[in-house]
Amino acid sequence: MRLYINIDHVATVRQARRTDEPDPVRAAVLAELGGADGITIHHRRDARHISVRDVELLKRTVRTGINLEISSREEMVELAERTRPMQVTLVPEKREEVTTEGGLDLANRSVQRSIVRALARLRGAEIRSSLFIDPDPLAAERTGALGADAVEFHTGEYANAVRPEDRARELNRLAAATRLAADAGLAVHAGHGLTYENVVPVAALPLIEELNIGHSVVSRAFFTGMERAVREMKAIVLGAPARVREPGVWAPPVGF
Ligand code: PXP
Repeated sequence: MRLYINIDHVATVRQARRTDEPDPVRAAVLAELGGADGITIHHRRDARHISVRDVELLKRTVRTGINLEISSREEMVELAERTRPMQVTLVPEKREEVTTEGGLDLANRSVQRSIVRALARLRGAEIRSSLFIDPDPLAAERTGALGADAVEFHTGEYANAVRPEDRARELNRLAAATRLAADAGLAVHAGHGLTYENVVPVAALPLIEELNIGHSVVSRAFFTGMERAVREMKAIVLGAPARVREPGVWAPPVGF
């Protein structure tokens, strides 16, 4: 299991004052020292947190790998071609949203066309590609058909579920989608809304090979420092399969 740390919110604090601190480049160094397997950054059209300068500098300084989240718009794909991150995750982007609200709408023809164009260019630039989608069987199948290398399942619904039965239902949905995606030959990633408290059942799902976690880790880092916050998350993620086998810690989803 790889743990990619999303450092967008370090840049969010910087942009609150439009100054030069805290610098996400320094956060990336500390995240790597804490055991991050990679650094995730989301460059949005409005550059509300990660800027082009950040993408360029991180590309030159990160020693693990960069997962660049972008929309499939022309200028975003150009940025990826120019900076050549290890991986690009294509995400939907709405200007007014606080954070990415759902997965790509792969049933929409114009979204499909835009994704196909972006994937062809990423392939040409030898950049690994992933599509951010909801844990939905049809979306998983469509991702396979579009020829991406990987899929990242949106765990927001799971994270937002409050009642245990709702959380179990969302976990089942996620588990089923991971199986379909793996059967379609895709590498399986997951992320969004994962915290120190809710990550264990997701990290224990056997087919998931990469988690992208940001807000919770950066929030803890305010108090403990980045390196320690990452180390603590990494220990939880790596220990998850053993923890779910302990009776009473977590009830496995139906059919598992
Ligand atoms: N994965 C994707 C595609 C995202 O857009 C985000 C948020 O930027 C994350 C993972 C990380 O989510 P969070 O900050 O809630 O951990």
